[in-house]
Amino acid sequence: MTDVLILGGTGWLSGRIARSWRDDGAAVTCLARGSRGAPDGTALVTGDRDHPDAYDGVRRAWDHVIDISSRADHVAAAVEALGAHARRWTYISSMSVYADDATVGADESAPVHQAAMPGDTYDYAAEKVAAEEHVRTLGDRALIVRPGLIVGDGDPSDRFGYWAAAFARAGAESVLLPPEEGRMTQVIDVDDLAAYVVTATSAGVSGSVNAIGDRHPISAVLERVRAATGHRGETIVADEEWLTGHGVGYWAGHRSLPLWLPADMTGFMTRSNAEFHRTGGLLRPLDDTIARVVADEVARGVDRERRAGLTRAEEHALLAELV
Ligand SMILES: NC(=O)c1ccc[n+]([C@@H]2O[C@H](COP(=O)([O-])OP(=O)(O)OC[C@H]3O[C@@H](n4cnc5c(N)ncnc54)[C@H](OP(=O)(O)O)[C@@H]3O)[C@@H](O)[C@H]2O)c1
Repeated sequence: MTDVLILGGTGWLSGRIARSWRDDGAAVTCLARGSRGAPDGTALVTGDRDHPDAYDGVRRAWDHVIDISSRADHVAAAVEALGAHARRWTYISSMSVYADDATVGADESAPVHQAAMPGDTYDYAAEKVAAEEHVRTLGDRALIVRPGLIVGDGDPSDRFGYWAAAFARAGAESVLLPPEEGRMTQVIDVDDLAAYVVTATSAGVSGSVNAIGDRHPISAVLERVRAATGHRGETIVADEEWLTGHGVGYWAGHRSLPLWLPADMTGFMTRSNAEFHRTGGLLRPLDDTIARVVADEVARGVDRERRAGLTRAEEHALLAELV
């Protein structure tokens, strides 16, 4: 039986990866502090990666080690403690490593940010770059997966799901949209990503791979989300200066219009996924993902407090000023 260690395994993506390996018939062990449970049918070993003894309970031979940490010191310590025991090592990095957000269609050879150095103020992208460098010391045994925006049911970032909630909560009323002209969206379903980690790791794929879906105009994606919710009201598009002038942010976070990007970030959601396809990555139809996200948002409550987007009260106030 394939013996897999997930460093993490109790979070959103890492939990889906753990489940994917389990469903593939592997024996799965998750290493985490234990604040959340590990998926059914997997084992949880507790350890705190802030401490040097974190790996003592898992220091043995593994077929595959999967790490999702965004802390370069954690990744370095894991490679040091377990690298010699692992037949293969897969690291979940991010497309945030890329320094150029303007070039459309850039592939894995695009330049990356400077790696974080010990003692630097925490910077997500720089930590991911430094973590990749540690993993790359394992040579051909290492696969570095660089996901773009991960979407699906249970997404804790609340970005893609905002649009399902916004259209569903509006019903026959209006929904505020950002300018859509020329803006693209590129996402990957969390379960397609988890499946890819299993198949690519098992197939011995090495090197770096962008894990992302195909590119779509944001207007088409939002229209498909709207159709899936049955929204019957109008959509009102505000212009860029008006939104930023009213304190509405791009991309993510409170008082934002998620997925909306500044006009000059033409390369951010238009990266190449050719290597992902070439190495066996499969993408489900976007409408399947949308249907699951809509069902999840409705089940969780479309008026719940969110990490990203406008509250309905904020959206009402903005619409009242705009029309
Ligand atoms: N969301 C996106 O669109 C996106 C895009 C690109 C890349 N990514 C990448 O996707 C990954 C997210 O994975 P996830 O959803 O599983 O993250 P998560 O929900 O934050 O879970 C983190 C996991 O690591 C464990 N952990 C955290 N601190 C630890 C410590 N000090 N010692 C031991 N274990 C620790 C957690 O368990 P305990 O807390 O119990 O320890 C949990 O199992 C990250 O690598 C992120 O960079 C995300």
